[in-house]
Amino acid sequence: MKRGKKLYAGKANTLYEVLSDDGSVEEYVLEMESTDRISAGDGERTDVVKGKGYANNLVSTLLFKLFEEAGVPTHFISEGTTPSSKFVKKADMIPLEVIGRNYTAGSFCRRYGVDEGIELDPMLLELTYKCDASHDPLITEHAAVALGIIDGETLENIVDYTYIINDVATDFFDELGLTLIDFKVEFGFDRATGEFMLADEFSQDTCRLHDAEGNSVDKDIFRRGDSNGEVSSTYQKMVDMLEAMNK
Ligand code: TMP
Repeated sequence: MKRGKKLYAGKANTLYEVLSDDGSVEEYVLEMESTDRISAGDGERTDVVKGKGYANNLVSTLLFKLFEEAGVPTHFISEGTTPSSKFVKKADMIPLEVIGRNYTAGSFCRRYGVDEGIELDPMLLELTYKCDASHDPLITEHAAVALGIIDGETLENIVDYTYIINDVATDFFDELGLTLIDFKVEFGFDRATGEFMLADEFSQDTCRLHDAEGNSVDKDIFRRGDSNGEVSSTYQKMVDMLEAMNK
């Protein structure tokens, strides 16, 4: 498979058309490139962080392979044409962000006025509705079904698979000496088969990780305004840890 024309540049990832060996367009495959672009505050602050795309693609690829082994269907097909990309199944995305929280942090603390770092066991699951006009509001499971965003079976899949994803990712980062505080995942349906699957990514852009001293090893470094060099070395730290573990 070869890379075709650019189809869509999101805040952090770029999607490309994929060509088969005879030059025809693959109807159900995309190449997803993790880029060095970073943004916060609904795109109000942006920057370019050297090495971020490589680090995010590396961790996301490793995790998606582990999720598959644990029985979670995902969009991952194979490594892509660059060290920062992968071939993925084209998905019809569900317009929900699925958030799993093992410890209180971020918007949860702001919303409920509680301290950071309180353990949530079992993992707490939240849904937000991807709707720019309403600024991605929190949505209850029942409202998501009542509004026809998902049906009951899809809701069950979202909940069941997100708990498996949390178990796999928690163990993976635990081996690196990191605590998975929270994360965001997105699901969709395989355009070719209609199969429910995990899509998007699982990276330092989309989760919070703390080391043994409680330092962030994730995008919070950028959110709180640290220097570009600090942000870059935070993403590089993950690459170094994975290499040290021969991952
Ligand atoms: P929050 O505390 O800001 O709601 O974020 C919870 C988790 O979800 C955190 O790991 C960051 C991640 N997240 C995204 O990846 N994208 C988003 O747009 C939001 C709001 C959160």
